[in-house]
Amino acid sequence: MKRSTVKELFASTAQEQKVLVKGWVRNRRGSKNVAFVALNDGTTLQNLQIVVDFALMGEDTMNNITVGCSISVEGILKASAGSGQSMEVVAEKLEVLGLADAEKYPLQPKKHSLEFLRENAHLRFRTNTFGAITRIRHAMIFAIHSFFNERGFYNIHTPIVTASDAEGAGEMFQVTTFDLDHLPRTESGEINYKLDFFGRKTNLTVSGQLEAELAALAMGSVYTFGPTFRAENSNTTRHLAEFWMIEPEVAFNDLNDNMDLAESMLKYVIRYALDHCMEDLEFLSKRLQEEEQSKKAEDRSMELIEKLQFVADNDFVRLPYTEAIDILKNSKPNKNKKFDYLIEEWGADLQSEHERYLVEKHFKKPVILIDYPAAIKAFYMRMNEDGKTVRAMDILFPGIGEIVGGSQREERLEVLLEKMKAMHIPEEEMWWFLDTRRFGSVPHSGYGLGFERLMLFVTGMGNIRDVIPFPRAPKQAEF
Ligand code: 4AD
Ligand code: MG
Repeated sequence: MKRSTVKELFASTAQEQKVLVKGWVRNRRGSKNVAFVALNDGTTLQNLQIVVDFALMGEDTMNNITVGCSISVEGILKASAGSGQSMEVVAEKLEVLGLADAEKYPLQPKKHSLEFLRENAHLRFRTNTFGAITRIRHAMIFAIHSFFNERGFYNIHTPIVTASDAEGAGEMFQVTTFDLDHLPRTESGEINYKLDFFGRKTNLTVSGQLEAELAALAMGSVYTFGPTFRAENSNTTRHLAEFWMIEPEVAFNDLNDNMDLAESMLKYVIRYALDHCMEDLEFLSKRLQEEEQSKKAEDRSMELIEKLQFVADNDFVRLPYTEAIDILKNSKPNKNKKFDYLIEEWGADLQSEHERYLVEKHFKKPVILIDYPAAIKAFYMRMNEDGKTVRAMDILFPGIGEIVGGSQREERLEVLLEKMKAMHIPEEEMWWFLDTRRFGSVPHSGYGLGFERLMLFVTGMGNIRDVIPFPRAPKQAEF
């Protein structure tokens, strides 16, 4: 007999038919004669109730059905007489596939803290919360690929091991096969990277952008969706050392086209979640509301589904950095010295407290900030006529701060070379990047969406370590 998933059974209208289901026991209750077993197989939030008759199964089997064990059940699918579920399976045959020592199993049928679940990340897929997040994560990946596919973009795999530091921030994990206790040295005493595996110093990529640009300047519209590594020592709820980034790059697009693309992508994937993940979103919304109960009324955030709908239906604000600085300078938290970093003058880098003030308090909408000071942005951004600002764009979201960072690219060889010199970026190592400006250069633009930041927004979770299965952060690489 073919196994049915729990999701299929809840979706079917056929009743009184024989079915085979397999999964893990989430809960068990009952009386002397019958046990009601809640079975979950990961396909839906809902558990399937299995009714097990003691007389039919024998004592051993009955004793072995404990929370956490895995079972295979053949039985009759029926409308349920009990409250709380529409259907149940009355077991005719039941086999315990894998025992679970009830005393030792970490996930008891009660509410566990997210911290506890992080320490038990190997088992947290078996909880309602993490099951819901995992299904939504999959749906978002799929939606992103659909969005770009429908628009004629090509997906490009950019390298994970590279020799460049695209963002110029120097926050890289080095890749080497050297024995660190016996480093080969040159005559002058420096480490001799010529003898390393790749014959040069290499690191894990901080961005696929530079390679995506090469592809865009031939293929038109491309995007990467890959693992990204940053060795920034930021132990925050929004940073990971290993995260996933979506980076589209489009030839002939200017900054306005770039903003349009990013805004429509974000709305598309949020709508996709609303259309395809409602059951899981409703569960997460309830969970969030329970958590919010402990907060003061004015600190509570908008209900999750309402918030997603709001963002999907409303235009984002588009605002130059210079205007944002004026708003921030004159804001209450700045005047009352409530910001950790006070905004005093033009040129200041914005912290997440400033970004969130603009989005959550001032505009109450997502904001796209553009035209940042050149000095606080990466080398590849296109210089504006004013000679001080670049065609950058950061998209700021409520509860998150920066979710997207991008720009129109500097396509003029001379201007780019000058900029690289000023920022001490070695020209000879970037010859391949510069060749695109030497041969058939065109205006082009792109951006990077942090996939886990998107996941934070869509699920309403508060910590980025709870929206990726196995988080990598400072001092954390278990599992
Ligand atoms: O703003 P960033 O650094 O931009 C780039 O890497 C560009 N090369 C993108 C491009 O134009 N193609 O990073 C882009 C996004 C951020 O807005 C944020 O959402 C996410 O990546 N991000 C992180 N997410 C989790 N943990 C971290 N440590 C992150 N650093 C950046
Ligand atoms: Mg950025």
